[in-house]
Amino acid sequence: MLIQVEHLSVLFGRGNHTFHAVRDVSFDVARGRSFGLVGESGSGKTTVLRALGGLMDRIAHVQGDMKLEEEVLRGKRSRAFRRRVQMVFQDPYGSLHPRHTIDAILSEPARVHRLDRIKDRVVRALEEVGLDASFRFRYPHQISGGQRQRVSVARALIIEPDIVLLDEPTSALDVSVQAEVLNLLMRLKREYHLTYVLVSHNLAVVAHMCESLAVMKEGAVVETMSVEQLRSHTSAQPYTKQLMTASLGYDRAAIDSFEEF
Ligand SMILES: Nc1ncnc2c1ncn2[C@@H]1O[C@H](COP(=O)(O)OP(=O)(O)O)[C@@H](O)[C@H]1O
Ligand SMILES: [Mg+2]
Repeated sequence: MLIQVEHLSVLFGRGNHTFHAVRDVSFDVARGRSFGLVGESGSGKTTVLRALGGLMDRIAHVQGDMKLEEEVLRGKRSRAFRRRVQMVFQDPYGSLHPRHTIDAILSEPARVHRLDRIKDRVVRALEEVGLDASFRFRYPHQISGGQRQRVSVARALIIEPDIVLLDEPTSALDVSVQAEVLNLLMRLKREYHLTYVLVSHNLAVVAHMCESLAVMKEGAVVETMSVEQLRSHTSAQPYTKQLMTASLGYDRAAIDSFEEF
């Protein structure tokens, strides 16, 4: 297994103010696969992803093991880890520096990881996400939400990671733009043999993108299943069924515009 999460628990705060955000969560992700974490807002999805990426608050108490190719991950992640594992966040506006050009935003990770031919890499990364080279000279506020999320994807991919952790990558976007970005992510995954862990509150998005998924509720995994099981409605859990009904009604337009759904 490429990624293993074993009995992960995350507690925030101390003493009487302890809050158990993630409870005994376990899952595996094989190389080249996409694994989805789905659940309502506040169910602990982002916390699991951040714990995996090593982006935990100092007030957080993390228990359990997370492994990358059998190697246990502890504390601050190494540069080698950050080269292999990149994150894309929900809000591209918040995660792109407002006073930096797209060129500066994309160059930075390449520089941190001491890559050569940075300008060529920036142009190529933009092309990969469907943006032409003229975008280098714009600022985040001068481009659309969908374009900003494409830039976030380019920033993650410029250093050629093999794992991408995606936190609600399309939730802030209009429905029509969501499908475009999801299709882009699918193409990039195929081309670069990426492994994804995708967090979404929308079961339809996860069903489109992933082969298997875990349904989370109140910090715990309610059910782990394949997308085939999900599609054939073999879920044993009433909560999963409820989520399914909600997300099918909610984003019919988005689902209809997905490829291969
Ligand atoms: N840094 C933090 N300090 C305290 N509580 C937090 C922190 N981050 C998240 N939480 C709490 O943990 C719970 C799970 O949050 P989160 O993982 O963001 O859920 P989701 O991504 O599923 O919406 C929420 O109740 C949230 O308020
Ligand atoms: Mg979240």
